[in-house]
Amino acid sequence: MSGVLVVGSQWGDEGKGKIIDAYAKQSAMVVRFQGGPNAGHTLVVDGKKTVLHLIPSGILHPNVQNVIASGVVIDPVSILKEIQGLKDTGLLTMAKQLHLSDSCTLILPFHKAIDAARESGAGKNKIGTTGKGVGPAYEDRSSRRALILRDLFAPNFKEKLQFVLEEKNALLKYVYKTDVFSEQKIYDEMMPIAEELASYRCADTSLLIHKSLNSGKEILFEGAQGTLLDIIHGTYPFVTSSNTVAGSCFTGCGIGPGSLKKVIGITKAYNTRVGEGPFPTEDHGEIGEYLRKVGNEFGSTTGRARRCGWLDLVALRFAIRVNGITNLALMKLDCLSDLEKIKVCTHYELDGMNIQDLPSSYEELQRVQPIYEELSGWQEDIRKARSLRDLPIRARDFVSYISQNVGRPVEMISVGPGREESLWVEH
Ligand code: IMP
Repeated sequence: MSGVLVVGSQWGDEGKGKIIDAYAKQSAMVVRFQGGPNAGHTLVVDGKKTVLHLIPSGILHPNVQNVIASGVVIDPVSILKEIQGLKDTGLLTMAKQLHLSDSCTLILPFHKAIDAARESGAGKNKIGTTGKGVGPAYEDRSSRRALILRDLFAPNFKEKLQFVLEEKNALLKYVYKTDVFSEQKIYDEMMPIAEELASYRCADTSLLIHKSLNSGKEILFEGAQGTLLDIIHGTYPFVTSSNTVAGSCFTGCGIGPGSLKKVIGITKAYNTRVGEGPFPTEDHGEIGEYLRKVGNEFGSTTGRARRCGWLDLVALRFAIRVNGITNLALMKLDCLSDLEKIKVCTHYELDGMNIQDLPSSYEELQRVQPIYEELSGWQEDIRKARSLRDLPIRARDFVSYISQNVGRPVEMISVGPGREESLWVEH
């Protein structure tokens, strides 16, 4: 029981990278278990910004082993770019810092082309994907046509590629009326990349993680995206293609549920969403604009402006339920400073009914009216606060209000982007 799992409790972009970085310091291993390069974690250390998409945030600590477990989809081109960047900045110096599961699903160029073609032809049914090919790659895994990392090193890689490409090219040419791919070109691009990735291969990351768990070492499991983007439990169909809830950690890594001692739900002090889909507390006016500006709410993967609005406690209670969240980390509290009034959505109304729980249909979620509690804001700069006592009383009241409403302790509060701009709450 030495695992700590960090999950996003909203629609992603909650600021998971920062808390993962803080926990990574005391962990022997940091593990990514789902999603792919659609994720983007921004970390600021000594004023220097590092954006990670696939590589676990533990890479900023030289003694941490970083594992990309089998549930992740890997784009060889983009992971190599990330590896190169980390090598250039001196953060990745030894092969033992990074382990890529041989069973990871590969994202190949045609997956990105299919992702783009689908989105461009979808009209009002567009999902607003990150365009990284994540969905089409997961589809191939489910239909048992995916190529996996191990295949890149197999003598019959080209043969397997040819088999898969035949169907993809037909789809691209006849359904999406777009360019097809040459198997030789993909092969020629992939072979030098395979050579570079070879030293990070791991035949069985489940075994590697088990050994570490059995030795009592602390392991941090790093969720990507957020609860409401889960393929099954999220606001389907406006979701990503993987399970983003806590259970995904077990299937993605190949470990059992008894391995975790804590599930931390990372929660931004307000809500954001990027891409299409329902968002009950979205503010199209001044507040939405204000939060986007102070919170610098632009995607770290795509640069897209994020939709912004007040904190939604109905959605947070849902996230606590489906993930088994034990503790909360409250991010970007400093972005609410200066506001005279802060609103928090406590429940919804739908067709005259009071709704306490998140409706499971996205059509209903699109129609709900958020009902707010208005709390007093604070005007003090809180970025230098390092303990609860340093916070103005109204900021403390805001934190207690959330914690009491959802019934979970807040164990960490982030008051700025920097590593040191955090405060830990003793319970
Ligand atoms: P996909 O994962 O690229 O297929 O995109 C599906 C949906 O999930 C879109 O609305 C994306 O904007 C959203 N999404 C995917 N990854 C992230 C993330 O890391 N943060 C926030 N939204 C994401």
